[in-house]
Amino acid sequence: MPANLIIPFRSQPPKSGLFSLKDAYATMTKITFIQPDGESQTVEAENGLTVMEAAKLNDIAGIEAECGGACACATCHVYVDEAWRDKTGKAADMEEDMLDFAFDVREGSRLCCQIKITDALDGLVVRVPAKQF
Ligand code: FES
Repeated sequence: MPANLIIPFRSQPPKSGLFSLKDAYATMTKITFIQPDGESQTVEAENGLTVMEAAKLNDIAGIEAECGGACACATCHVYVDEAWRDKTGKAADMEEDMLDFAFDVREGSRLCCQIKITDALDGLVVRVPAKQF
């Protein structure tokens, strides 16, 4: 099992029927973080978390997330790979305002605490900026 694989266990059994092994584990989505030097790390994270939470749980370098996901620090800035921008959607107004404080904002810049992980993002690729501020 890879060292960076996190398998969250549901604390509540399903409401209907038997409790299967499949039900016991939450759905996992793969996300790849690419560092400025090209090094990449693919992690698996539970749907419903944010990309920032997946980064922090897996010790991804360069994702500071000082405000803990409150969209108030801009230290979780990433560049969403062009192929994934439709699926991640655009930044909301509050996120756009915070991006004004991020370093080297480009097309595809997002605060990854505002990107919720779903099945649709399985395989998501984001790039970490050279610095956060
Ligand atoms: S963690 Fe602070 S804005 Fe994303």
